[in-house]
Amino acid sequence: MKAAVVIGFDRPLSIEDVPVPEPGPEQVLVRIETCGLCHTDIHAARGDWPIKPTPPFIPGHEGVGIVERLGEGNVHGLTVGTRVALPWLGYSCGDCRYCNSGWETLCTSQLNMGYAMNGGFAEYAVGYAHNVVAVPADVDPLDAAPLTCAGVTTYKAVKVSGATSSSVVAVFGAGGLGHLAIQYARVTGAAVIAVDINAARLQSARELGAEHVVHAGEEDVVAAIQRLGGADVAIATAVSPSAFEQALGSLARGGTLVSRGSSSTCRATATAAAPDRSRVCTFPLTRLRGLCAWRPPPKRRDCCWSYTHARRASCPSLSIAKRPRTGR
Ligand SMILES: NC(=O)c1ccc[n+]([C@@H]2O[C@H](COP(=O)([O-])OP(=O)(O)OC[C@H]3O[C@@H](n4cnc5c(N)ncnc54)[C@H](O)[C@@H]3O)[C@@H](O)[C@H]2O)c1
Ligand SMILES: [Zn+2]
Ligand SMILES: [Zn+2]
Repeated sequence: MKAAVVIGFDRPLSIEDVPVPEPGPEQVLVRIETCGLCHTDIHAARGDWPIKPTPPFIPGHEGVGIVERLGEGNVHGLTVGTRVALPWLGYSCGDCRYCNSGWETLCTSQLNMGYAMNGGFAEYAVGYAHNVVAVPADVDPLDAAPLTCAGVTTYKAVKVSGATSSSVVAVFGAGGLGHLAIQYARVTGAAVIAVDINAARLQSARELGAEHVVHAGEEDVVAAIQRLGGADVAIATAVSPSAFEQALGSLARGGTLVSRGSSSTCRATATAAAPDRSRVCTFPLTRLRGLCAWRPPPKRRDCCWSYTHARRASCPSLSIAKRPRTGR
């Protein structure tokens, strides 16, 4: 089969002929139809993070395809012909305290697609049956692919943020993750402020429902958002430590910062932000929530697949100017 292979952290992806993988116990072989590109794939291919994958490896953790063969053992009801998505959480043990409390993404035995396991930038990939996720028949594979990481990640970010129809949500970075965060936030009815350094991304953020946009290369982001009354929720997806700090600074009192950036970026920026106690003291109820990628729930339709709904949603929303600013 053809595969796009990382052969070295300083080398471009190499299209190579490699053997079709064999599904092992409790695995399935998936014929890949499409695969999204997440910025994490770029971090993986460049070896950006402290724990690095080992070249050669095949990146891609937004693969969608058709189950073609079943491995031995428990394949969790999957059958040949089922369309599935192959998420970042390629394997979790199912036994530990995290797996048993709905936090499989913290499982210390986890294996990640396109990182520790070969991913979806290939004609075929194997996935653990427990971790692959059936794609509803009415969701196009092209729509399903980016939801497999960017979608579930930002869906969870919006969910844990507690955003409601009376919230102002600032989304830092309007790229792969951010453009979905904007839509999920809009589904809650919140007013959205999008921040980016790319004018085209800001334009599409407006088209997706952002009421205000801030160009971080041209404006003082914190001042611009504070002039609007501050954000109840800031969701940091930008690949930039300064954006994380701006996200913190943009919060209104009692605001919630949800960081979706890469783990090393989060750690570095959280460390950088921590000595600046004044900001935390200024907003004594600020909560900092750092999360890893979420796992699409196997059976519930209301989560990752709700992007289809999000794209069609037209939630009534009060403009920021008309919102009550007391009681925060
Ligand atoms: N924690 C998780 O669960 C999780 C899951 C998926 C991706 N990620 C990480 O999230 C990050 C974003 O991924 P993506 O696929 O959305 O990337 P992307 O490249 O598609 O989007 C990033 C956006 O940030 C913008 N940006 C860059 N610098 C900025 C700045 N200073 N201020 C404002 N905007 C800025 C870029 O212009 C771009 O639009 C990556 O680091 C990725 O590894 C984390
Ligand atoms: Zn990803
Ligand atoms: Zn576990």
